[in-house]
Amino acid sequence: MPTILVTGGAGYVGSHTCVELLNSGYDVISVDNCCNSSSESLRRIEMITGKKIDFYEADIRSYKMLYKIFKENKIDAVIHFAGLKAVRESVLNPLLYYDNNLCGTINLCNIMNKFGIKRIVFSSSATVYSDSSAPPFDEEMPTGEVSNPYGRSKYVIEEILKDLKTSDNAWSISVLRYFNPVGAHESGTIGEDPLGIPNNLMPFVTKVALGLLPCLTIFSKDYKTRDGTCIRDYIHVVDLAKGHLLALKEVLTKNTIDIYNLGTGVGCSVLELVEAFEEACNVKINYKIGGKRQGDLPIVYANVSKAENKLGFKTSRSIKKMCEDSFNWQIKNPLGYRQFVK
Ligand code: NAD
Ligand code: UFG
Repeated sequence: MPTILVTGGAGYVGSHTCVELLNSGYDVISVDNCCNSSSESLRRIEMITGKKIDFYEADIRSYKMLYKIFKENKIDAVIHFAGLKAVRESVLNPLLYYDNNLCGTINLCNIMNKFGIKRIVFSSSATVYSDSSAPPFDEEMPTGEVSNPYGRSKYVIEEILKDLKTSDNAWSISVLRYFNPVGAHESGTIGEDPLGIPNNLMPFVTKVALGLLPCLTIFSKDYKTRDGTCIRDYIHVVDLAKGHLLALKEVLTKNTIDIYNLGTGVGCSVLELVEAFEEACNVKINYKIGGKRQGDLPIVYANVSKAENKLGFKTSRSIKKMCEDSFNWQIKNPLGYRQFVK
């Protein structure tokens, strides 16, 4: 079976994808500087799968370290998750985001070129779509009108990858635009572990449900949607991880560049998610309605026809399952991975 280098493999989506890769028989090497994760997640992946991951704790911006990794291993393809992802932080510190996300990716592609490994799956985001397009978003819609440096870094990386393919047709590239990943592995041993107070809805809800935070603020009920709250396309992280294996198979077997939306294609409002959580987990979520959060679009959901038709992508985990698995992870790990790390 091929050997896959997973950058950012200790993180939320990366760790779930490592599980799927190992369970499917791939050999996995991971590089992560653990700036937003813990190597404990890798130990848990090994526990779940009974298989070993070769781990390098390193920054993908280090040419020396990446050179060493490629020199020491026979790598067939890369799944590239490593990046910073907090929208607000990117507004406050744009240089950090451009340095980490852009320079990291350029360094990685340079080394891949050097070693003649030209197969990559890249984590992009629905944030590249422009707010002037009407949802559902499809891959042909215009991109680049982004409102923050995080989103711009994703847009620019997509453009760099397209240029790379134009310059050298030997590259095989799959760009995956995620919608809203939530949920956790059903064992409750790996999951999303944000540092400090979560920015995203689901980790906030699970913390309120457990009494770790007092109250959820819903960012406005004045949107032009069915209940006044924003609509998003939540996708279970295990379904998302499985999507990476389909994309990987494509870059390993074809000479291609393709962009795919990964979502469910179904929108769910904030209030609907809160209600679904209450019902699925049998808890009350204390919430209040607050003002709008700057930059939030009223409605974001995917047209997933391309991924379904070309990759055979199909999600199977419901909103109920997303809530149950998120809460199960939170209950089993109230302090995330930190309580286990010395
Ligand atoms: P995450 O923060 O949990 O995982 C990213 C991992 O990359 C972390 O383990 C972090 O330590 C590592 N990393 C960051 N910079 C690095 C560097 N320079 N060198 C080595 N390692 C580095 O985030 P995630 O939710 O798993 O997201 C994975 C990817 O998917 C990111 O690129 C993110 O932008 C993208 N994405 C995520 C979402 C989401 O809502 N989770 C949505 C769209 C796109
Ligand atoms: N929300 C609240 N209260 C909170 C947190 C979120 O009401 O405390 C609402 C937001 O206003 C939004 C919805 O819940 O309507 C989802 O918000 P998230 O922060 O969970 O997710 P976003 O849709 O804002 O952002 C996600 C990823 C980004 C990515 C973007 C692309 O986190 O990385 O999708 O659409 F860029």
